[in-house]
Amino acid sequence: MEVHPFILEESHRGNLEELLLQLSKKKRNINLTVYPNVHCVGAFDNEKLVGFAQLFILPKTTFKIGQLEDVIVHTGCRGQGIGTKILNEVISIAKREGCAVINLTTRPERKEAWTLFESSGFIAPGNQALRLILES
Ligand SMILES: CC(C)(COP(=O)(O)OP(=O)(O)OC[C@H]1O[C@@H](n2cnc3c(N)ncnc32)[C@H](O)[C@@H]1OP(=O)(O)O)[C@@H](O)C(=O)NCCC(=O)NCCS
Repeated sequence: MEVHPFILEESHRGNLEELLLQLSKKKRNINLTVYPNVHCVGAFDNEKLVGFAQLFILPKTTFKIGQLEDVIVHTGCRGQGIGTKILNEVISIAKREGCAVINLTTRPERKEAWTLFESSGFIAPGNQALRLILES
């Protein structure tokens, strides 16, 4: 198993669709556009994408924020430290890019995710996240 940054390409679409369906039952279109401020980290079992996360670098006027999205490990590969390796890679990218913080949101019922994020040093900062849903 290898965990490293990668450029999302057409060849990953099928594996990523399968992974994202394990995160949310709703099938979403996958945008393969490469943006300079978006970093993908993948876990690969041979060529197969079995773990994923996306880090968005948001430059504010005062400091850079990393926004972490879609952290997911395939159901057949969980509990082997892959999620931890993905987060370690994400954290090193964020540090290299000069981010002061990494933000993420997760639902209270996602127990494994809470364990993973807390054991990697994430804390609940106390301020509430608000969301305006523009598209559902
Ligand atoms: C959260 C997730 C990415 C963890 O991936 P993983 O590869 O299993 O994680 P790891 O093997 O590195 O384990 C990380 C921590 O989670 C704990 N963990 C793993 N499986 C667990 C389980 N079934 N129940 C409770 N804790 C669990 C491990 O003990 C470890 O904690 P530790 O470092 O304190 O020992 C994976 O469970 C997943 O994809 N869940 C569904 C998607 C999701 O909720 N993503 C977050 C959305 S914001």
